[in-house]
Amino acid sequence: MVEKIQSGQGMEAGTQHGVNQVEPECRGARASDFPALQRMLELYQHDISDLYDQDLDERGEYGYDLTRHVDAVDSFAHVALVDGHYAGFALVGPAFVTQTDGWWMEQFFVLRKYRRGQVGAALARHVFQSHPGAWEVGQMPGNLPAQAFWRKVIGRISEGRYTESRLTEGRWKGVVQRFRFDPTN
Ligand SMILES: CC(C)(COP(=O)(O)OP(=O)(O)OC[C@H]1O[C@@H](n2cnc3c(N)ncnc32)[C@H](O)[C@@H]1OP(=O)(O)O)[C@@H](O)C(=O)NCCC(=O)NCCS
Repeated sequence: MVEKIQSGQGMEAGTQHGVNQVEPECRGARASDFPALQRMLELYQHDISDLYDQDLDERGEYGYDLTRHVDAVDSFAHVALVDGHYAGFALVGPAFVTQTDGWWMEQFFVLRKYRRGQVGAALARHVFQSHPGAWEVGQMPGNLPAQAFWRKVIGRISEGRYTESRLTEGRWKGVVQRFRFDPTN
């Protein structure tokens, strides 16, 4: 069941906001980035383990499978670096939650040290520019900080032209924003 709870029209559109403390380098992941990506995924999964129930395997790892992102056929990885240090990452896959056209923000993470400095916003813009077209971005129901972050970022990038739904049934449950990214934005 999809319950549409609001449209983003007119919210935070085109406003000017804080300048990056340090401009991050955002780019598609290279083969040499995948060991660090695998480790950052461990940090991410632990960070959200109070919201998303998971257990460590016998090696003490969550063990996210990055094979699809290494293959880079329909799923992709991106990294953000600050002063040459890894600061976050994004994983992108094909849309599947509310539509099959376009892209799904599969995972998205900024290391704690770099939060609230516009690293996430810069990484999100880089990812949308790398994969123009239809987008769906979801947050778990209890992840209120992520919901606030994505409403701000998507509101600006789409100039308020996004819709938001709360999914209570199906393969994925939570809050989902949908919009089209036009690379000329
Ligand atoms: C959510 C997350 C990616 C935000 O990254 P970030 O680099 O701190 O975000 P930014 O500094 O670029 O923030 C962009 C905007 O979102 C807002 N925002 C960011 N974190 C927020 C929070 N915790 N609460 C409310 N608003 C927030 C900022 O205030 C900022 O708005 P402003 O430009 O008007 O100041 C980061 O906190 C994170 O990795 N969290 C853990 C993993 C997670 O939940 N990932 C998302 C899964 S859907």
